[in-house]
Amino acid sequence: MTTRNRSVKQVIRALATSDGAGVKLLRSLGSRQDARLDPFLMLDEFGTDNPDDYIAGFPSHPHRGFETVTYMLDGHMEHRDHLGNVGDLRPGGVQWMTAGRGVIHSEMPKQSEGRMRGFQLWINLPAAEKMKPAHYRDMQADEIPVVALPQGGQVKVIAGRARIAGQAVDGPINSGEERLSTDPLYLDVRLDAGATFEHPVKAGYNAFAYVFEGDASVDGTALPTSAAALLDTDGDAVRVTAGGAGARFLLLAGRPIGEPMVQYGPFVMNTREEIEQALHDYRSGTLVAS
Ligand code: FE2
Repeated sequence: MTTRNRSVKQVIRALATSDGAGVKLLRSLGSRQDARLDPFLMLDEFGTDNPDDYIAGFPSHPHRGFETVTYMLDGHMEHRDHLGNVGDLRPGGVQWMTAGRGVIHSEMPKQSEGRMRGFQLWINLPAAEKMKPAHYRDMQADEIPVVALPQGGQVKVIAGRARIAGQAVDGPINSGEERLSTDPLYLDVRLDAGATFEHPVKAGYNAFAYVFEGDASVDGTALPTSAAALLDTDGDAVRVTAGGAGARFLLLAGRPIGEPMVQYGPFVMNTREEIEQALHDYRSGTLVAS
């Protein structure tokens, strides 16, 4: 069987914006209504040495209808939610939160100086799961498998099953018994200069790469830094080659949901009526009621 590599069909460059109480970030997916890749709704990159850019954090706010995945590279954040959970986000750690019916939480810096860097990804839920109970899980860096690449570099497997040099490696999320319906693969790949990384992508799944250090190309197409490179669906693998300075990128793939989607701020539902219900529930204090 021959492998066909996917090529880049669209590049969504990140736009500088701010969210929460004034946290500066770069938004690629989700920067426009049509800049998405089902089931991925939004990708924010944050990275700064200036506390003024992050210190105000994300005070208490709601979510309904999807999942948020926060991946810290540098810095220290604290999550608190309406259930009384307190989460500690530290370098190399991941928080996987399923808002489901509703979460009200805050995400605040636990540092007043130094570097803060990482990503927040939003993954949609199908209609049948939008109102399921909220759930979250914190994973520290030592719970995330790191696999050395024979050509030079490494892969951190955050979600799904990676296949690297003939070896299957499961991330802590979407593996074993605990499979998500969107079946996400979430890898953080670092390549040495000139090294190539090839990985299978399941038929019918959507996939994208996001370079955040160095430079890399897919099938001869250079990928700009801080941009989501959406891959076409015609192919069963992706092949990324690093440039002369090496590269570091996220590789995401998932099963599309294929349902109508309506977003209003932190609520992502199937219809306008469901958005109005979410707003009503939030205002009346029943967003998170069981
Ligand atoms: Fe949030």
